[in-house]
Order: sequence, then structure tokens, then C-alpha cells
Amino acid sequence: MRKKFKVVLFFGGLSAEHEVSCRSAAAVYKNLKKNKFEIASIYINKAGRWTIVPSPLQSLNDLNQNHFYSFLPWAEESSPQLPQGDIYFPVLHGPFGEDGTIQGFLEMADVPFVGAGVLGSAAGMDKGFAKILFQAQGLPVAKHKVFLEQNWEEKKVEILTDITNSFKPPFFVKPANMGSSVGITKVKNNESIEAAITDAFRYDRKILVEEAILGREFECSVLGNDHPEASLPGEIIPYREFYDYSDKYIDGKTDFIIPAKIPPALVSEIQRLSVEAFEAAECSGMARVDFFLQSGTQNLFVNEINTIPGFTEISMYPKLWEVSGLPFPRLLERLIELGLERHQKKKRKVEHEDTVY
Ligand SMILES: Nc1ncnc2c1ncn2[C@@H]1O[C@H](COP(=O)(O)OP(=O)(O)O)[C@@H](O)[C@H]1O
Ligand SMILES: [Mg+2]
Repeated sequence: MRKKFKVVLFFGGLSAEHEVSCRSAAAVYKNLKKNKFEIASIYINKAGRWTIVPSPLQSLNDLNQNHFYSFLPWAEESSPQLPQGDIYFPVLHGPFGEDGTIQGFLEMADVPFVGAGVLGSAAGMDKGFAKILFQAQGLPVAKHKVFLEQNWEEKKVEILTDITNSFKPPFFVKPANMGSSVGITKVKNNESIEAAITDAFRYDRKILVEEAILGREFECSVLGNDHPEASLPGEIIPYREFYDYSDKYIDGKTDFIIPAKIPPALVSEIQRLSVEAFEAAECSGMARVDFFLQSGTQNLFVNEINTIPGFTEISMYPKLWEVSGLPFPRLLERLIELGLERHQKKKRKVEHEDTVY
């Protein structure tokens, strides 16, 4: 019998999106065809320590009963070998997973992995930096300003004046490196700016103040390496004021319209911008690109790019591919192929250079 292809999943992680990652990994596990793949699962706890588990289908409580180890090769305790795989799949959302950190670890080990490399992951995670790349590519982004914590501490009054001169409420205040709407406030009057800024600085030392684009919200899935393709877009209709943390994970009352009911010209425009955003951020494998469509002007704005989008059974990324003709199990196989392809191409380059010198 042919040896099965071994996929190693990383899930959990240090970020505020720990639980979402566990749910994403469970869906990935279920949708990987067991006749083709052997799966090893590595759970990373909230302290960043790891353990090998039978699968991501266990409860959080059971997962945390294990003995945990440090990733450091020189850690004092003897840690078991990480399982060897034919490919590694970080199913981690947010900082310490989606931001290039684990990707760097896997690059160092010279093993193939699913998704964006170090640069694309880091650029996509930082909302301020991603916007610089989008603007350089000529993509439309909302008017925004970036502020650093050290400047805020030193020049509160100047910064508050700058913000009130530049933005009229409502506007958004958000940490640069986060996800799941954590630390995000829609500021409706100038009296609440300071509280919004203080809250955003709890999560990051860099924050964005951003004009509110009132209208509709769309998301589009991108898949590929050198010739990325975009899925049909989906629409999000938040239940609350905006698509906040409770709307995402607690109430679950958000409406998802998959695919979005929009004219073909808007579909093509979203797809074109999604591919350009993917390329601008130097992504590979996968990403979900999120948009605002401003009511009145009907102008589209790229909001953000997520290099490890939600992967639960009801998440936009796999759902959008499903309605675009690529079922979840096939999508995972495609992502694995793309990860292998990227690693092969990178390797060939290095070998070529070796022969030159
Ligand atoms: N500039 C904006 N205009 C309108 N709504 C916004 C804006 N920025 C954020 N939002 C709302 O907040 C949600 C979360 O913000 P987002 O920037 O996507 O961060 P996250 O990475 O946490 O998803 C969005 O889905 C949207 O509903
Ligand atoms: Mg978002």
C-alpha cells in the first residue's frame, strides 16, 4: 500500500483567537481525506508551549490536560521530537501564528508549509503596513493615520488635536496587529476618543485611526501562488453596529450571504482588487481579502487581508470556495499542493546559486 502523505497541523496558539483556531483546525482535520492523509496534530497552549495530541477534535479542557513543552531546542526539559511531516499546516490566527513567526520557524527548518511565507504573513498581519503596500499598488484604502504608543504617552494633546482635525466621528480606532475585532472601537463622539485609544494600546504598541466607511461589507477568498485566483465574493451583514467580537463569536447573529447578491461588474471588481491585494502583500497559498462598499459613492475600499482566514465549517474562506466550485476537501488538497510547489521553487533557486558560487 502506498504510504499516506503526512500533514502536521499546528493549532491553538498565543493569540486572542485561540479558540477560533481550535475550531478551524477541527474543521481542517475533518475535511482532510483520511484515505490520502495521515494527520499529526500539535496543540499550542495560551502560554506558547506545545504538545502532540491525537486530533484537534478534543475539547479545550482535554487538550490542556497534556504535558507541554517548549519550542526552544535548548530548553531544559527533554521535549519529544516534533512529528515529521510531508507538509506543515499552521491553522493559527492572529499574532504568533498568522504573522510570520511560525512561518520563520518552518523556513528555518526548510520544510514545506501551507500559506504565506514570512514577509506576506507579517505584512498582512500589520494593518498599517498592509495599507502602505496596498496604496503603493494603487488600491483604494480608507483614510487613516498610524500612532505609536511612545508618542501617545509623550504628546497626548497634540495627537488628540491631530485626530479631531483629521477625522469626523464616526471613525474607527484599532490595534495594528490583532484580529477578531479585539480592541476595536467605533468612535461616535470626540469625548470617547481617549478611551478608545487606551483600549487599542492594550493590544498593540501601534494603532490606527481610520475614517468609517459606511455601507456594505464584502469578503473574497484568494488561492494560488504565482497566478492567484479569486472566489465569488460573500457579503457580511453585521447584527450590531459593526462586525465586532461578540457578533463574530458570541451571538453569531451575523448574516452571511454566500455568494453575495451583487452585479457581475462588482463581482469582477472585488475579484480583481483581491488578487492585487494578495500580490501587493506578497502572499502565497491563500488569503481572504475584506472590503467596504461605501453607500452613496459606491466606492470600494480594501479593508484588510487575512493570510490564515477562519477555517471553520461555516467560515467564509472555505464556504466561498465551495460556492465557487471547490469543495472543502479539494481546497485543502490544493493548499497542500501550493505549499509543496512554493517550497520546491524556493529550493531550486538555492541549489542554482550553490552551483554558481
Ligand atoms: N474603516 C471602517 N469603516 C467601517 N467599518 C469598519 C472600519 N474598520 C473596521 N470596521 C468594522 O470593524 C470590523 C473589524 O475590523 P477589521 O479592521 O476588519 O479588524 P479585524 O482584523 O479584527 O477583523 C469590520 O469587519 C467592520 O465591521
Ligand atoms: Mg476583519
